[in-house]
Amino acid sequence: MSEEIGLTRRQALGAMVALCGAGAVAAAGATPAQAASRLKVRLSQFPTLKKVGGVANVGVLAGRQVAVVRTGKKMYVALDRTCPHAGAIVSASGSGWTCPAHGSQFDLDGDRVSGPTPTGLRKLKTRRKRGVLTVSG
Ligand code: FES
Repeated sequence: MSEEIGLTRRQALGAMVALCGAGAVAAAGATPAQAASRLKVRLSQFPTLKKVGGVANVGVLAGRQVAVVRTGKKMYVALDRTCPHAGAIVSASGSGWTCPAHGSQFDLDGDRVSGPTPTGLRKLKTRRKRGVLTVSG
């Protein structure tokens, strides 16, 4: 399987683990009906978002894995975890994001740091109200 899509066994396993983790998180924080055009994220359900610099994989929006980063006391950034280079799913690592396919690096806000990716991660629109972050494309 991994040879057909050009990933090593380790890269494919990493992608599957990331997808399973995101799915479990999605089950806790969003309903399937919300997966279409908006993703409602109840922030209290993601303990890692209690601190500035915290990161959580919050679910799926229009087929894309979404992560939220707390960037300030009341500020959050939502990112499409799809690598702009060739579509692998990036994972949080250290103080940013790493693509398992070809090694592109992104900072915590999703901006490009290094590697073959032509751009940073796609930033999604957010609106916070009463402890719920609504993420849309
Ligand atoms: S798919 Fe991410 S660096 Fe190539």
